[in-house]
Amino acid sequence: MPRSDSSLAPHEPGTVAGADWWRQAVVYQVYPRSFADANGDGIGDLKGVTSRVGYLRDLGVDAVWLSPFYPSALADGGYDVDDYRDVDPRIGTLEDFDEMVTALHAAGLKVIVDIVPNHSSDRHVFFQAALAAPAGSPERERYIFRDGLGENGELPPSDWPAAFGGIAWEPVGDGQWYLHSFAKEQPDFNWNHPDVHEEFLETLRFWSDRGVDGFRVDVANMLAKDLPEVLPSAAELLGLDSTSGHHPFLDRDEVHDIYAAWREVFNSYDPPRTAVAEAWVSSPERRARYAAPTGLGQAFNFDLLTADFDPAAFRRIVTENLAQSAAIGSSSTWVLSNHDVTRHPTRYGLPPLAGRPVKQGTEWVLAGGPADGIDLDAGSRRARAATLFLLGLPGSAYLYQGEELGLPEVAEIPNDQRQDPAYWRSLDADGWTFDGLGRDGCRVPIPWEPTGPSFGFGTGEPHLPQPGWFGQSAASAQEADPDSTLALYREALLLRRELQSGESLEWIETGSDQVLHFRRPNGWEIVTNFGAEAAPLPQGRIVLASSPVAADLPAETTVWLAPA
Ligand code: GLC
Ligand code: CA
Repeated sequence: MPRSDSSLAPHEPGTVAGADWWRQAVVYQVYPRSFADANGDGIGDLKGVTSRVGYLRDLGVDAVWLSPFYPSALADGGYDVDDYRDVDPRIGTLEDFDEMVTALHAAGLKVIVDIVPNHSSDRHVFFQAALAAPAGSPERERYIFRDGLGENGELPPSDWPAAFGGIAWEPVGDGQWYLHSFAKEQPDFNWNHPDVHEEFLETLRFWSDRGVDGFRVDVANMLAKDLPEVLPSAAELLGLDSTSGHHPFLDRDEVHDIYAAWREVFNSYDPPRTAVAEAWVSSPERRARYAAPTGLGQAFNFDLLTADFDPAAFRRIVTENLAQSAAIGSSSTWVLSNHDVTRHPTRYGLPPLAGRPVKQGTEWVLAGGPADGIDLDAGSRRARAATLFLLGLPGSAYLYQGEELGLPEVAEIPNDQRQDPAYWRSLDADGWTFDGLGRDGCRVPIPWEPTGPSFGFGTGEPHLPQPGWFGQSAASAQEADPDSTLALYREALLLRRELQSGESLEWIETGSDQVLHFRRPNGWEIVTNFGAEAAPLPQGRIVLASSPVAADLPAETTVWLAPA
């Protein structure tokens, strides 16, 4: 069956024009250290990204979002930033950055960079100044310092857990402790301090002046904090309502004042710079506030990413999120994978909702064990079907590097070569740990070639080891194979330029609780069979299918129907 109809318009990169380019954009996330290594030191770099601009253009994405490439000791994969307005020398220089932006823009692609405002690294000048200054000094006020408890301050101010395990307070040796919601190398800023506001306004202008089109805002829901003199215990914290807007540090109402000020900076550029919030908040209603046009403008919706491959869940999530973003004047966002979660072919190959950490002895493993209990054939089939479902939705889609190659999670990284603090610091803790093996398994340098050193990633030893089977998924091999996942993504992104119209859809009842069917305003239709049995083939002109279609609609398959 032909996957696409040659009468449809050819791919024109950069057809999304004007200030609204982001509303239905496909954004490709690059994790810079693992994308392409131009100088052979085993670490991906900006020149590597520049060398692959043709690939990104041919893939058909509209924008590239780069995870942090700033100077960093890599305590948390670069989300521990030493200097917000420079490039890590291992990744390149500001000149390399400018060159990359020029090349991406010339190919019609927008550029989004990551802003990490909840915390700096412990090597940031502000934090170094805070350490050098005494307790009670103005330098310490830019962060959240507290006296320790106990006679000499030898006990932490509270028993709050940090995201990567351990306690969220670190002593500095003089009886004071600082708050770190994540790793201890990531001290939380005090957003009640004007210097912190100024630091980020300057950073937004710095990158905007260099031609950056938008920003992804890390942990956007935790900047505003109001910690009482007597801190609640961790157990008491769990009892507090995180949707009230008055929790001591989660999703506080006044965080939006910060983004209103950022919006003024964004709107001082032409076209206005865009932003998308990473805000793991509890409800679509609370999330929508981050997406307000007077604030960041858009917010990640991780509901599909955390859902099973389940038609009722998918339908509810889509309906709820479209309603919320319409109400606030934003557009919906859809994500299946990113640098923080198990890649979706693996997730969908696990038993339902089992991609969560499970502790076996002292080791965190994916439920079912890293090597068994995963049905990768089923996972890959479902991943392709879910991807075509997602790409047919109104709103913007965020793709993570390597998902277009159908890469599963790499489970077999020797433990002593793992880098992620979510792995290292979770071994003795029962706290929040993303996925059981940490996040290195989705951050392995991607395979460009079937053979050769680091499968075409570079010429040196890659900073995270690649498994022997990686070459089977190499981009160059998939380019030549019309049935490959890469070919499917390319065709989908090409056709999507016709499919995207008004930001709405209409559900069509199918008579089966396993089949979802929706129609876009211009007549395109998407049909997904989530079930284990084949379903009747829908009427119409099928132009794309996630698995081979014959007389019926196979199990776990999505098809796209073009208007007659
Ligand atoms: C966000 C990032 C994650 C990082 C954390 C702390 O969740 O996506 O990678 O570890 O923030 O900055
Ligand atoms: Ca390099």
